[in-house]
Amino acid sequence: MHEILEKLEHKRELARLGGGQRRIDAQHAKGKLTARERLELLLDEGTFEEWDMFVEHRCADFGMAENKIPGDGVVTGYGMINGRLVFVFSQDFTVFGGALSEAHAEKICKVMDQAMKVGAPVIGLNDSGGARIQEGVASLGGYADVFQRNVMASGVIPQISMIMGPCAGGAVYSPAMTDFICMVKDSSYMFVTGPEVVKTVTHEDVTAEELGGAIAHSTKSGVSDLAFENDVEALLMLRRLYNYLPLNNREKPPVRPSNDPADRADLSLDTLIPDNANKPYDMKELIAKVVDDGDFFELQPEYAKNILIGFGRMEGQTVGIVANQPLVLAGCLDIKSSIKAARFVRFCDAFNIPVITFVDVPGFMPGTAQEYGGIIKHGAKLLYAYAECTVPKITIITRKAYGGAYDVMSSKHLRGDVNLSWPNAEIAVMGAKGAVEIIFREDKNDPVKLAAREAEYKERFANPFVAGARGFIDDVILPHETRKRICRSLVMLRDKKLDNPWRKHGNIPL
Ligand code: COA
Repeated sequence: MHEILEKLEHKRELARLGGGQRRIDAQHAKGKLTARERLELLLDEGTFEEWDMFVEHRCADFGMAENKIPGDGVVTGYGMINGRLVFVFSQDFTVFGGALSEAHAEKICKVMDQAMKVGAPVIGLNDSGGARIQEGVASLGGYADVFQRNVMASGVIPQISMIMGPCAGGAVYSPAMTDFICMVKDSSYMFVTGPEVVKTVTHEDVTAEELGGAIAHSTKSGVSDLAFENDVEALLMLRRLYNYLPLNNREKPPVRPSNDPADRADLSLDTLIPDNANKPYDMKELIAKVVDDGDFFELQPEYAKNILIGFGRMEGQTVGIVANQPLVLAGCLDIKSSIKAARFVRFCDAFNIPVITFVDVPGFMPGTAQEYGGIIKHGAKLLYAYAECTVPKITIITRKAYGGAYDVMSSKHLRGDVNLSWPNAEIAVMGAKGAVEIIFREDKNDPVKLAAREAEYKERFANPFVAGARGFIDDVILPHETRKRICRSLVMLRDKKLDNPWRKHGNIPL
């Protein structure tokens, strides 16, 4: 017995040491934590239950038979984040560069399968040189086994990827299918093909950081939801993000008690909108004044900034927020912003998170770049997402709601539950100037007449009452009572039930 215990402890020691002190030091020298240190920060103290510490690869080629490290480059198991269950895998770059072998993949699949059985999220901390080159196709098979599980888990349990080192080639497609991807600046990168291949094929000179670093993916491609300064910040923020999410698609999101009164009036909202309808204001200020304790957890803050997405709480309950941002491109909808918001709405819908939409949208972005880029198809994604969404939907039109964009932004017609507007809202087919130039073309050389027509059009249509008269908005509210009205609506909608017709799956425009 004693001997077995000693052997056990020895094996544990070996596993804990991963690729050895030299490689651990090298990891630290790059400003990175080890796989185990990361889990210690991510999980509540003392809650980590490790699985498969003794798993080894089965490869015998290229001298690998004598080169085995218990755990095989990934630390897996489950633990708690603020007392709530989570399954984790953390790739260990010190062991064969965190490269994925068949056994390594099996370990990941095992926690994913268990997470599905018990209904708890999976968080992956990625730091890997990709497919284990010595294993060849066995390793590729391992990837595909993980991909298949990612897809089956999509919409059933939340999946989050934190990229904390290399993630290249086929390896990118597991994170790509998870709900959120976060990256660490300067130490992580993601790309399908690396700088050398890029140079050979397209003759572009680009560094790994430029091609697929955290900044590139959080500002240019939109692949990454958040970019962090270092491992510690990344893991602490991941804990915060986790607090908003339900464990699975049958649960409601957690409620965090708040002392912020539901009926808190914010008088400054009454003067937030400038008198001049063409002047911008910061929609983030509005959101901060409405949600509990001013706490808005924004996602993709540096990408498609003309739309804002993120989580907040109302009376402690998680809500998803989508809002046009008049500060950027006047808050219009374009390809990137439509895709950004559509995916977020679908996440909220899959996981029982009510969606609150703040609308100030002058329309869709015109131009050949948008049309050739497929704005018709991509704008339709947002329309589709809102239309199929069955969670509580509350919409506040703060100023402009023009044209097709009015319909898209969680309108009454797309089964919006509560649609409210501020008094100065302009809900119409288009702005008064453009409208008059088209319908009174015969007056185009008479500026006095045109001005009169424009004033008449404004008076007649650029207000919330035409929509109100048809019941397209439920009420016109004073800006300062926005929080109270949303909180009441959420209480009313708490037990909302709405089902879409049975189908294998819809065919969202892709
Ligand atoms: N398979 C097996 N071992 C791998 C590996 C892989 N895919 N990627 C890295 N390793 C090993 C290295 O051999 C090295 O082993 P050692 O510590 O025993 O010397 C260790 O991991 C660290 O790699 P190293 O190259 O020294 O680290 P780096 O930080 O300088 O570079 C990478 C990291 C990922 C850029 C580099 O290792 C690389 O290009 N790897 C191959 C990527 C690839 O083509 N993957 C297969 C297709 S997906």
